[in-house]
Amino acid sequence: MAFKERVFSGVQPTGNLHLGNYLGAITKFVALQDNYDCIYCVVDMHAITVWQDPAELTRNTREVTAAFIAAGIDPKKHIVFNQSQVAEHAELAWVFNCVARMGWLNRMTQFKEKAGKDRENASIGLYAYPSLMAADILIYRATHVPVGEDQKQHLELARDIAQKFNNDYAKSIEAHGFGEAFFPQPEPLIQGPATRVMSLRDGTKKMSKSDPSDYSRINLTDDADAIAQKVRKAKTDAEPLPGEEKGLEARPEADNLVGIYAALADTGKADVLREFGGAQFSAFKAALVDLSVAKLGPIGAEMKRLVNDSAYIDQVLADGADRARAIAAENMKAVKDIVGFVRR
Ligand code: TYM
Repeated sequence: MAFKERVFSGVQPTGNLHLGNYLGAITKFVALQDNYDCIYCVVDMHAITVWQDPAELTRNTREVTAAFIAAGIDPKKHIVFNQSQVAEHAELAWVFNCVARMGWLNRMTQFKEKAGKDRENASIGLYAYPSLMAADILIYRATHVPVGEDQKQHLELARDIAQKFNNDYAKSIEAHGFGEAFFPQPEPLIQGPATRVMSLRDGTKKMSKSDPSDYSRINLTDDADAIAQKVRKAKTDAEPLPGEEKGLEARPEADNLVGIYAALADTGKADVLREFGGAQFSAFKAALVDLSVAKLGPIGAEMKRLVNDSAYIDQVLADGADRARAIAAENMKAVKDIVGFVRR
């Protein structure tokens, strides 16, 4: 069955938006606007699966919204909103909690990493997180989901949930006139040279908001001096850059910096190595500083300007939520009919 094509993705407002979020996700969000109807969500309900200071959560929600707009997302043509303003996400997540199996969630590596050794003390929300994420996507019956590599397993789970719902309720779906399947199989879009940006201090660790070292990441709000310092201090090895991609194998730090350069320049790693093969890191890093400052500087400056205009940001979110809710409410009504809930 053919579903209307629609893009959905989300970013958690947990502070320190970084180059990984930008290259792995936000630049993709921007590019997809030309060919799809897009819905981009600041997932505040996901954020509280681990403790968030309330004032910080509010600030961070506005900051992610500002980053979306500063990076080039058009909130008039597409939909930008925060998750908690559309209650249908939570409503569908409950239904999905009853469709998903414990065994499926037990396999989620992100839960294991985030819960750490003290699993007994993790919130139920952290465990059920992927079920809410499936609801985020499927409440809009979205077909395409741009994300970084680290979200791949969650996307596979969303596909499993969609499939099981369609199977479990097949007769009811048919009886209510929705054909063979109510939910599409959402397709992950994970492409390009920067689907997994690594820490600048350790090329085997993902760049992350929660790394205690600020030198491990470039934040979108870093100024030119901070960017330059972090790139110059980034860990490397002693060899010059190779001429071909194969030469990056077993050189995680070199591979990471070349991938970052390629993504910022909107080319591939092979092109970057054609230009810099044989160069020392000092020369390559100088070029990377220039490119990073040229690309990120204006975005950081615009973010800072927008964050100060909280009335505008809140208006964008309220308007986006109204338009999102209209789609979500209709799909939730259908789900209620399919499941057999009596409604007015
Ligand atoms: P979050 O907030 O951790 O990250 C937002 C996006 O940034 C990508 N990303 C990276 N990409 C490349 N390299 C990195 N080092 C890196 N770090 C983060 C993430 O893959 C993500 O695309 N569960 C999601 C939020 C979410 C969502 C959704 C996404 C909630 N519901 C529905 C898509 C669809 C998350 O925690 O992303």
